Amino acid sequence: MHGFSYQHGSLHCEQVDLKELAATHGTPLYVYSGGTIIDHFKRLDAALGGVPHEIAYAVKANSNLSVLRLLVAQGAGFDIVSGGELFRVLKAGGDPAHCTFAGVGKTRGEIAYALDQGIYSFNVESEEELRALNQVAGEMGLVAPAAVRVNPNVDAKTHHYISTGKSGNKFGVDFEAIPDLYARAARDLPNIRLRGLQMHIGSQLTSVAPFIEAVDKVAPLVRQLKHAHDLEFWSIGGGIGIVYQNALDSGAAGWWQHRRPDELPLTIERYGRELVPRLAELGLKILLEPGRYLVGNAGVLVTRCLYEKKGVAKTFKIVDAGMNDLIRPALYQGYHEIVPLAQPATAARVVVDVVGPICESGDFFCQDRALPDFQPGECVALMSAGAYGFAMASNYNSRPLAAEVLVEGATATLVRQRQTLDDLIAGEL
Ligand code: LLP
Repeated sequence: MHGFSYQHGSLHCEQVDLKELAATHGTPLYVYSGGTIIDHFKRLDAALGGVPHEIAYAVKANSNLSVLRLLVAQGAGFDIVSGGELFRVLKAGGDPAHCTFAGVGKTRGEIAYALDQGIYSFNVESEEELRALNQVAGEMGLVAPAAVRVNPNVDAKTHHYISTGKSGNKFGVDFEAIPDLYARAARDLPNIRLRGLQMHIGSQLTSVAPFIEAVDKVAPLVRQLKHAHDLEFWSIGGGIGIVYQNALDSGAAGWWQHRRPDELPLTIERYGRELVPRLAELGLKILLEPGRYLVGNAGVLVTRCLYEKKGVAKTFKIVDAGMNDLIRPALYQGYHEIVPLAQPATAARVVVDVVGPICESGDFFCQDRALPDFQPGECVALMSAGAYGFAMASNYNSRPLAAEVLVEGATATLVRQRQTLDDLIAGEL
């Protein structure tokens, strides 16, 4: 489920009218449904019930402190990729002992910070990084818990910018090289404790097949390493895809009832059903690093139409959100459903481009899409914007970052103030 539906002719987040939030807080405005995040956490937790597991939320998807706090309360761990994300998790009350640290380019400063906080595992992406980790830990008189990220050379069949598990990607260590690397580390690196193995093949996977392929390929390696090095966990990464098309309808009718032909039926139940038996027999703790699945359908970006511009070839609806607020369409040809806050009275559609104010032709949210007509002054919601939306926003064109609101039932809380013009130049000399 997700928390967005028309009630009394107006789009609501749980029991809160988005039109009222737009009037109170202005636009562009991110709105999150706390209930959806909790529901998705619980569903994933239940789907993995047959195996000892821990859900380490991938903070990069949405790092707002209040979102993190919701997940802390559910007992989530956290997968971080920078010192900044660790700082946020700590501020939100997260336990560093349940944090994993991913990424190909950790600095020595970030490594020292995370060692000092006592994180659960460094998910290491190269032998060079493993040696740097050993050195920093030695200097601090500590032993660093580590897992190496294996690149299983499996095709995730997703957009090439977010596919990570093929040999040509910068991520992880080649599958074939892993046993020797573990043996060398155990022999030569006294300040490393090999605690697990990690993999992540890509993001927005809409079929369970690549997950199965990767698990089947890597499981024998896990068994071998567990035996040789007494590993305690295997992280199978994140990547569970969500519905983007007809996202609004799918909330009411059930998640995967309305999907694009290329959005294959990956349900969370199926994910669990296929993977749990394969994982359970290994006798290890399984870590998951979901980002998008937990927060993607839990957020919308509300934006107001400023102008309608009718050209010879096209009609443009110019809105007050731009690619700086939501870059997914520009960067990945990402699809976000666009729905008016005022429920359309008829089924009539107009074919339009919805574009932002930024001085780039790539600044659009859709092109040649049949949408219910909406007029300047009216607001629309860009659906499924809870993951990699605000988190990837920038100040491009000197546009202040949008405000964010978290809804829980009938309560709406401003969880990030809109940036001011002074915020834009803070720190500049
Ligand atoms: N673990 C690792 C090591 C990752 O690199 C990622 C995402 C995740 C977990 C979480 O993946 P998820 O469950 O959210 O698919 N900005 C792109 C997505 C980039 C994903 C980067 N890594 C987008 O908007 O589609």
